[in-house]
Amino acid sequence: MAERTTQDLSEALKETTKEVHEQAENTQFMKSFQRGKVSLREFKLYLASLYYIYSALEEESERNKDNPVYAPVYFPAELNRTAALEKDLEYFYGPTWRWEIQCHEATQKYVDRLHHVGQHEPELLVAHAYTRYLGDLSGGQILKKIAQNSLHLPKTGEGLTFFSFPGITNISKFKQLYRARMNTIPMDAATEKRILEEAEKTFQLNIEVFEELQRLITKGQPSANGSASQPKQELHTRGVNRAHSTVATAENDQTQMQHRNMLPSTPLLRLVLALFFVGATLAVGLYAF
Ligand code: HEM
Repeated sequence: MAERTTQDLSEALKETTKEVHEQAENTQFMKSFQRGKVSLREFKLYLASLYYIYSALEEESERNKDNPVYAPVYFPAELNRTAALEKDLEYFYGPTWRWEIQCHEATQKYVDRLHHVGQHEPELLVAHAYTRYLGDLSGGQILKKIAQNSLHLPKTGEGLTFFSFPGITNISKFKQLYRARMNTIPMDAATEKRILEEAEKTFQLNIEVFEELQRLITKGQPSANGSASQPKQELHTRGVNRAHSTVATAENDQTQMQHRNMLPSTPLLRLVLALFFVGATLAVGLYAF
């Protein structure tokens, strides 16, 4: 494959995604976030979506770590977010977090695209990594401060592990290095065009996730003005055991609803539960006998 001779990929990506970046920033979800109006429930849903997205991105990243079309931007120690998200989800939902969260449709579409790209069009994976990781290292750092203040999260960083990059000492320098590495990826003009299109598509997938989160929030908790709201009480239920809080909030209702929705769609879970109930019934029967 010929070396690229046109504009650097990093510049082309920035230029091409400028408009769709603005669209992403201006989604209702992101606007509320920037205004410090994100509720704990919204933030938890957001982290859950990110968990599915990063699990897929990092699985595909791992698969392609030795592929020359991706290897230059493979920085697992510095960038990987899945473990950080697991930590945050445990902080917010408690130890049962895996059972509490749900992969909604728009997130699933994004996840499916990541797996498709990683397995069938690996030369496009850089577009996905760029969109998420450089975003996290840029606007993500602004969002971290907003979330910390609006959700009154501890200054020690619990619940915000996703936004912290302990493996990077200088974010600005790292972004420069990342851009320089992207520019070394060998590609022809046709591939570059496809990467640029994929980056726009990736932003679009993110926008769809935000729109879906917004719909879930609005549907779950309609308020008089139609915007997402949250009982004040819930904002004060933070702490290590918040998942076991007895506060009867709409979030709890939503979690239960998600659980109910999850049961029919996860055959393994149904099987495990069925076996458990059969076992429990037998045990009670034997004991009574
Ligand atoms: C409220 C939301 C957002 C804000 C305030 C924001 C803010 C910013 C800012 C200020 C930069 C420029 C940083 C710099 O030049 O060093 C930036 C860059 C970037 N943002 Fe965002 N952003 C937001 C949402 C998003 C979203 C949702 C994505 C993608 C999912 C994203 C992806 C990116 C990317 C990839 C860059 C790097 C551009 C480049 O240098 O090539 N941003 N963002």
